[in-house]
Amino acid sequence: MSTQFATAQQSTLRSAADSLGIDIGVAVDDNLLQNDSTYRNVISEQFNSVTAENGMKMETVQPSQGNFDFSQGDRLVQFAQQNNMSVHGHTLVWHSQSPNWVQNLSGAEMEQAMVDHITTTMNHFEGDVDSWDVANEVVENGQLRNSFWLQGIGSDYIETAYSAARQADPGADLYLNDYSIDGINSKSDRYYQLAQDLTSQGLLDGMGFQAHLILGQVPGDMEQNLQRFADLGLDVRVTELDVRIDMPASQQELQQQADDFERVVNICTNIADCSGVTVWGLRDGDSWVPDTFDGQGAPLLYNDDYSTKPAYDAVLAALGGSQPPPPTETTEPPGTTEPPPPSGDCSAVIEVVNDWGSGWQANVSVTGPTDGWTLSWNWPGSQGISSSWNADITESGSSVTASDVGWNGSIASGQTQQVFGFIGSGPAVEPSVTCSAG
Ligand code: G3I
Repeated sequence: MSTQFATAQQSTLRSAADSLGIDIGVAVDDNLLQNDSTYRNVISEQFNSVTAENGMKMETVQPSQGNFDFSQGDRLVQFAQQNNMSVHGHTLVWHSQSPNWVQNLSGAEMEQAMVDHITTTMNHFEGDVDSWDVANEVVENGQLRNSFWLQGIGSDYIETAYSAARQADPGADLYLNDYSIDGINSKSDRYYQLAQDLTSQGLLDGMGFQAHLILGQVPGDMEQNLQRFADLGLDVRVTELDVRIDMPASQQELQQQADDFERVVNICTNIADCSGVTVWGLRDGDSWVPDTFDGQGAPLLYNDDYSTKPAYDAVLAALGGSQPPPPTETTEPPGTTEPPPPSGDCSAVIEVVNDWGSGWQANVSVTGPTDGWTLSWNWPGSQGISSSWNADITESGSSVTASDVGWNGSIASGQTQQVFGFIGSGPAVEPSVTCSAG
């Protein structure tokens, strides 16, 4: 299993992000994590970082005063540890999804409750959660949001929260986080000021840009904006990326969406101190968008059947994952030139290397001699290909053809090379393959 898993990771978002040393994260729904093994498998294969979509928020963690319930967070941490992923914590102090009991306090009592919540939660997850959105969405209309926190404690509540967080887990990176601050505007300007204040006191490590975007509207100055926060000595992070579309989404809109995702990932990879990009949910149907924006949806990287969208390919490309490995260098004695392998009789085998129930991964090997190959086979049942790498694939009914993409076409006589892979839908099968050389 471990060798096969290593092979499976060759061309995933995760392996590409790993080689860049950045996080590619996803917001995780606790119900799906518990009940859907495909969901777990796709996330562990494709992402190296997770955030609880709701499971670490105050109403979940401390529904009544002093009664802490870490079960959802613990489940996520356990999953992350089993799969060697980092955890970005979300969130400790927010005006939304906070229990009524805390909203009904005021003054010193509310401040104590806030500090207790931060301290107990961060102590519990110390060493397991790498970074935290300590305060979330604290600015509105260019000034501090008039939330119950501000009203109850006063404007120094943010500094108090970050001091408590720093004390509770000195090893965790402390982030601010908000939406509509992806470009330079009055809201991000206010954050810039706040970030300067907190940074000067050693209380802030990172700035989170949620990036809940509308199709075609990646701000033109997004990179410049993130860079100015990075120049304060902070990490920057795209924390909740999605790109919503007026439904139904056309092919052209899905392509535009792919371009938008690619642009955002490129912005992160262009900035040395960008710690990563997290998408806010796995499949379109898992997203908060259709519930909130009437008539809008399809904002994520996966369709509901776990097939990938053009946006997935674009993110993979932006992470450098779709690039073929460099051709192997051969050392020739001087004066000799190896002739190209002849086109001749080739053969090929499909091997299923991972099967998680409603999806499966296969690797395909070709044995030479051949200088270019086209493989064909027929599905015995309802199978299909939902994504692939390193081959040009055409499916027509139950028949499939796959051909090389240039760099992986030549295979010497008697040599076997694993040349491409795909994610299959329907029951996993290993049909026999015809190989045509040349
Ligand atoms: O917990 C109840 C559950 O008991 C009940 O059965 C169910 C019935 O609908 O509702 C559940 O609560 C829902 C909760 O998500 C957990 O699933 C709420 O109705 C629903 O409003 C809530 O939505 C979340 C939203 O934050 C709340 O503001 C979204 O899933 C979540 O994606 C969204 O995430 C926020 C980030 O935290 C901050 N940035 C913006 C982002 C999008 O709004």
